[in-house]
Amino acid sequence: MSVTVLVGGFFGDEGKGKVISYLAMKDDPAVTVRGGVGPNAGHTVVYKGRSYKLRMLPSAILNEQTKLMIGAGVLVNPKVLLDEIKVFDVDQRVIVDSQCSIIEDIHIERDKKGHLKEKIGTTGSGTGPANSDRVLRSAKVARDIPSLKKYVGDVAFEVNRFLEGGSKILLEGTQGTFLSLYYGTYPFVTSKDTTASAICSDVGIGPKKVKDVLVVFKSYVTRVGGGDLPGELSEEDTNKRGWAEIATVTGRARRAAPFNFDLAKRAVMLNSATQIALTKLDVVFPSSHGISRFEDLPSKAKKFIKDIEDSLGVPVSIISTGPEVFDTIDRRERLGPT
Ligand code: GTP
Ligand code: IMP
Ligand code: MG
Repeated sequence: MSVTVLVGGFFGDEGKGKVISYLAMKDDPAVTVRGGVGPNAGHTVVYKGRSYKLRMLPSAILNEQTKLMIGAGVLVNPKVLLDEIKVFDVDQRVIVDSQCSIIEDIHIERDKKGHLKEKIGTTGSGTGPANSDRVLRSAKVARDIPSLKKYVGDVAFEVNRFLEGGSKILLEGTQGTFLSLYYGTYPFVTSKDTTASAICSDVGIGPKKVKDVLVVFKSYVTRVGGGDLPGELSEEDTNKRGWAEIATVTGRARRAAPFNFDLAKRAVMLNSATQIALTKLDVVFPSSHGISRFEDLPSKAKKFIKDIEDSLGVPVSIISTGPEVFDTIDRRERLGPT
């Protein structure tokens, strides 16, 4: 049994795209499946100096053997998806569940004004209004869209079939634990639950089939849009520390705060984390940039990682030391045979 679910532990943008692209290259999963909300996500993959931005496809695109699926829980914007399929030339390996709900122009218009834009500060990608139509059972689904016909299938069936055949499966969550509609900082949240259980449900994998839950934390915390960010730094301090970031989908500045152990503990609980991936270590400890062996890290960085493990009681098994796929320390061997 080999299903790994990967989710964000803070407010999104933890670097899930980077970690997934590493796992896709290193572990060679037969299938990766996108769960989560929809094209409000923006994942970044950097390989050999080229940067790839993904809003709909799983971030495993670089491994040509890996099937790329989108689970029934996910909202699809056909234009965004078809553009990505073309740009990344992955026509032959995409399956979109026939029951994915569709984002239409009207949803995007509704997301760009009033309460959603002004109070919540959404991404404006139409996901909230589309999910509300889905709940009202008035939304279109993927099987109604002629341009998606050749990609439409039964993702739950396909994933479970691969699993029974002994294949490795990677489920890709989006957003972050504290953007969850249920467990986040309501009303400053996204339009669905985003925890590991929700990602399994999005894809059609039952809870007993999951082997590992990998929660991704960035070495500091960022947030875009409205809502509280405990320990938020001023813009000046954010810049001084070199933590300033620009959001992938909206181009907005991300607000920043130091690593938050209380939030991280709660994320471990909500997701039943078995492993942690820690990203952007090089941004907090610049001399760790590009390092791929734990022993070579500066002692302050090692101490930071030990503090996280001691406080959360979960091993930090993947450490990202730069945006490139292989700027990664992989400590999974420590965990014993998988
Ligand atoms: P969402 O699904 O939108 O939450 O996105 P995400 O978690 O995939 O993160 P996103 O790509 O939006 O932001 C992460 C940014 O950090 C990207 O620009 C990555 O290239 C970059 N990045 C990821 N890991 C590292 C790292 O270890 N070091 C550095 N310097 N950059 C990193
Ligand atoms: P929505 O998901 O577009 O409705 O936006 C609701 C809130 O979630 C806003 O604060 C957004 O900035 C935030 N959000 C949604 N998706 C992401 C993401 O992928 N990364 C970071 N923040 C996100
Ligand atoms: Mg992002």
